[in-house]
Amino acid sequence: MVAPPHGGKLINRISKGKRRIRLLSEVEELPKILVPKDIAVDIENIAHGVFSPLEGFMNQEDYLNVLNEMRLSNDIPWTIPIVLDVDEEAIKDLREGDEIAITNEDGKPIAIMKIEEAYKWNKREHAFKVFKTTDIDHPGVAKTMQMKNILLGGKIELINELENPFHHYTLRPVETRILFKEKKWNRIVGFQTRNAPHLGHEYVQKAALTFTDGLFINPLVGWKKPGDYKDQVILEAYDTLIKHYYPKNAVVLAVLRTSMRYAGPREAIFHAILRKNFGCTHFIVGRDHAGVKNYYKPYEAQEIFREFPDLGIIPLFVKEAFYCTKCEGMVSEKICPHPDKYKIRMSGTKIRKMIMKKIKPPPTMMRPEVAEAILKWENPFVTI
Ligand code: ADX
Repeated sequence: MVAPPHGGKLINRISKGKRRIRLLSEVEELPKILVPKDIAVDIENIAHGVFSPLEGFMNQEDYLNVLNEMRLSNDIPWTIPIVLDVDEEAIKDLREGDEIAITNEDGKPIAIMKIEEAYKWNKREHAFKVFKTTDIDHPGVAKTMQMKNILLGGKIELINELENPFHHYTLRPVETRILFKEKKWNRIVGFQTRNAPHLGHEYVQKAALTFTDGLFINPLVGWKKPGDYKDQVILEAYDTLIKHYYPKNAVVLAVLRTSMRYAGPREAIFHAILRKNFGCTHFIVGRDHAGVKNYYKPYEAQEIFREFPDLGIIPLFVKEAFYCTKCEGMVSEKICPHPDKYKIRMSGTKIRKMIMKKIKPPPTMMRPEVAEAILKWENPFVTI
């Protein structure tokens, strides 16, 4: 059985047929708000139910509840604010109840939104609560501080899909739900990633797959900090890994198109909710999930799940996985008795440094085929 959507109903805010034709004809007359790509992709997420039960951008009541209680005002768990920021100038002639056209960066209208509310917000407080720091070196804090001063709340309706460079890797929640059923998977484990896979990723996935029916590898594509892997590199690396090292029919690979927040524990809950909406019954949370530098403790993103007994998706906690030269294989902190001198840790930073110097990471860290797929790229990393 696939998991029921978060909040009980899979949201669909996609206009169709005659209604869409009417909205498209009216859109020219509406005031326009241009949004950057990060927001545009989240509009699609709302419309396709990836963010169920959200139907639009948060109004102040939900926003404050999410910030302070990590729940929507109806008590449903939700940890990351989904907000639309605008400047005073953009809304000076608008009233609550007005409809606006949201356009992407090329000026193409993508959605209609009915404004429920415009409200001020405190960015420092937001940063502190979401990221547990106001340090501007934290990429999520830096991004928050650059946002505009007013937030607009209201439901959206999608009128045009965005261009999708990951078309072949895209499955909407309605589709994954059907697919998992067709495969007769009852226990489906979701995996979030923003990295090309090393042996640690493979280990935690296979550990989880041992006790479930299917693995949904769901790399996040979208805004990431400079130095992280480019989206396409991650997908090619996974195609290679799956081809050589995964059993047929045990894995589905599809993208989650949203931005990384680097919000550690709060983002782990958010990531789990999104995978629940895709139909996953279980979700892997390993070491330092969605972390950056040392802002979060290694298992803080696991501990936070204690506060959400009503989440509706089962977290699978995995301790740090590493290669042990004494065990002669991949193991985890939980099952290996040997001292540190035998451990080869899966340091993402170390692997990235090797790849940058065009050195192939050793097979005790990364599958050679995966390393080769990455090394084909002149620069596999996100630049500013
Ligand atoms: S994340 O920002 O998307 O969390 P990453 O892609 O590295 O980063 O991790 C994906 C998932 O694998 C997370 O749940 C993370 O905790 C887990 N993970 C990554 N490396 C290890 C490891 N060596 N041991 C245990 N879990 C790991």
